[in-house]
This record gives sequence, structure tokens and C-alpha cells, in this order.
Amino acid sequence: MTTADKLAHYVLPTYAQFPVAPVRGEGTLLWDGDGKRYLDFCSGLATCTLGHGENSLSRAIASQAGELIHCCNLYQIDKQADLAKCLVEECLKLPGRVFFSNSGAESNDGLIKLARRFGHARPDTEGRARYEVITFHRSFHGRTLGGIAATGQDKVKEGFDPLLPGFRHLELNDLDSLASSIQPETCAILLEPIQGEGGIHLATGEFLQGIRELCREHDLLLLLDEVQCGLGRTGEMAGWRTIEPGLVPDAVSWAKGLGGGFPIGAFWVSERIVADDKPLFDLMGTGSHGSTFGGNPLACTAGLTVLREVLDQELPQRALEHEKNIRETIADWHHPAITEVRGKGLLLGVGLNPGALPEGDGASIHLSRELATAGLLSPPAGPDTVRLMPPLTVSTAEINEALEIFRQTLTRVCA
Ligand SMILES: Cc1ncc(COP(=O)(O)O)c(C=O)c1O
Repeated sequence: MTTADKLAHYVLPTYAQFPVAPVRGEGTLLWDGDGKRYLDFCSGLATCTLGHGENSLSRAIASQAGELIHCCNLYQIDKQADLAKCLVEECLKLPGRVFFSNSGAESNDGLIKLARRFGHARPDTEGRARYEVITFHRSFHGRTLGGIAATGQDKVKEGFDPLLPGFRHLELNDLDSLASSIQPETCAILLEPIQGEGGIHLATGEFLQGIRELCREHDLLLLLDEVQCGLGRTGEMAGWRTIEPGLVPDAVSWAKGLGGGFPIGAFWVSERIVADDKPLFDLMGTGSHGSTFGGNPLACTAGLTVLREVLDQELPQRALEHEKNIRETIADWHHPAITEVRGKGLLLGVGLNPGALPEGDGASIHLSRELATAGLLSPPAGPDTVRLMPPLTVSTAEINEALEIFRQTLTRVCA
């Protein structure tokens, strides 16, 4: 039985898979069992921050695995303490506390629970607990029941109702509609500063500032989902700072790039004073939340190793330099099938003109499949966007090679 046969027989078919089966990697490169080479501009969906194969991350994981893999949160975990300190002091540079989870959806569930606690601590004028979280169309916040309720895309919700109540989705960057939609039960606004899965759409600086003002005016929490855009990929450790450097959120979620491929998520809660002189993070006190695996020694070693490399090698800065090269190169093509390049750093979406590509699966899936055949893994995001998101350690030569494959493939597909 081939891998494809076994997957078809034994694994739930929740993913529409490409016919690509990598078994080995080195840096930005992957190889399948037949020795076919791919440039990995998918990075496990913006996750393999330091690339693949033998590197500081694989060595740190192997070494920690030999010391202590897991011990649970009833006991004190030194690597967890170090990782939380690094996130607070070197990545966010904002005081607060961190909770460790295992994925992005779990981290966002934590933000939703925080919002509910906040709504209880600061009820409406009638004394009723507030509970509503406003999110935005095309957002993606994960596949848990909390995550799909928060997500602003119908396709993730189909057949799963009744959904968790207390969410409303509005148009991104429409401040007037947001201002007029806040209700007595609203307690938080949750957004990705740069939407990833929904097709790489950016919140504007004006919108982020406006949200901050509305949060102040209506006593709401500002929650940022930085699962895809945070921790260096978009040019700053705090992704929103590439758009609005002065913005101070109340809580932030992470996952994906934090572990460089090892499963780990986290969320940070600020020390803003909310009730009885207590900081916000106090609302998530003893017994309020938990995770057996969250923050275990192995996962936190992976997180620490990734963040150290990202910070010490100044990879966010390099991501911005690569972005400039990519934008200039693609602009020089003047290709009629490309409408624009959206995003920041190494979270970029190439917008496609659907009319210029063959009909069928949708422009982005069709092109992603052709690119994979040509040796470039570049996944779709939405119906008309293909993403470029290589490891942050990618070289300029690899980017140039990937762009040449992209140009040639696009020209062939459109011919
Ligand atoms: C912005 C954002 N939030 C949350 C998630 C969910 O993360 P996970 O798949 O780790 O649960 C994703 C995954 O794509 C994401 O892009």
C-alpha cells in the first residue's frame, strides 16, 4: 500500500491534499521518497521558522528529550519560566503573564475564556455579564468549537450548529460599522492584524487605532490573534507593530512559528487594572484554565530555541528585506494574471486574476498544484491568492529560484 492509499483508508479525509509526500528536509528544501526536490514556501503553514533537518532546533529537542520530555503543570518547569520571560521581555516588551497551550485554536479559546471572565468582572449597566466578542469577515481563528464560532467564514461552521453563542462578524477596516455595532453585551474585539488563511488581508493602522479608542470608550478588551503573523514572520516580534507600532493590546495569542514545527501555543494577558485594583491576568487565576501538555519541558525548549535564533539572527529584519526583493521582482514581471502582492515580511499573498487562469478548482488551488509539480510548495489562501511564506532562514538565492519557478509556471498555466 502506498502512503496515499493508507491515508485514504485510515485517516479522516478532512484535508484536500496535494500529491506531495515529503520525507526529509534541509533548510528550505524538502525531498520526497523518490528524491524529488521541493522549495518549501509553505513552511508547514507558516510554522517551520528555522527550516528543516539538522539544526539548532533539532539538536535542542533531541537533547531535552534525553533529559525530560514531560512533567505537567503541577510542578515547576524551568524552560516554561524562561520561555514566558522571553515572550514578555524580549518579544512583546509589555508586562503581563503567559499561558501555554498546544495550538493556535487552543490559544484563541483561552482569549475567548478571558473575554468571558472580563465580561463577568465588568458587567453592563444593568449588572448583566457581558459576553459578546466581535470578530471580522474572512478571519480564521481555529477549528475548536470556540475557534469556528469566532471565525468569520461560513465554510468552517457548516453542519456544526448550534455554535457557541456570543460572536458577531463585521467588515475588516470599516470603523463606522464597528462603532455602531457595539452592544451592551459586547466585551471584546478579536482580530488578526494580518489575516492569513482568509487570503492575506491587513488591518489598517487607522482601523487598529480606532479599535483601541472604541475599546477604551466602551470598556472592551482588544484581543490580537498573532498565531500566523506573530513572532517575526511579518517583520516584528509583535506582528501588529509592522502596522501600528504604538498599539497596546490586552491579550495576544500565538502558535505556529513559536515551536518551529514542534506543537506549542501560548497566549499573553496584560496587567491592565480591571477590577478591585486587580490586573487583567488575575481573572485567569488558579483553576480557571489548564492543559496537560501545555508548556511542557520539550515544547518550551523548542520555543526558546526558535525565539533565540529569531532574535539573535535578526530574522524579522531579514524578512522585511526579502519582502522588498519579492515585491520588486514580481512588479517587474507586469504579469496580467497577478493583481497585487499583499502582506508583510515573509507572510505574502500573491493575488490572482481569476479570469487569467483556467476555470475549475479555483485559481489558487490550480496554481498551487502546478507549482508543486514544478518543485515549489506555495499554498493557496482563499480562492484567488497563493502564499509565499518560506522559513525565516531562507536565502536570497532560494527566493530568486522560487520566484523564477513561479513566473515560468504562471506563464505556462495562462498560455
Ligand atoms: C490566525 C490563526 N489563528 C488560529 C489558527 C489555528 O491554529 P491551529 O491550527 O494551530 O489550531 C490559525 C491556523 O491557521 C491561524 O492562521
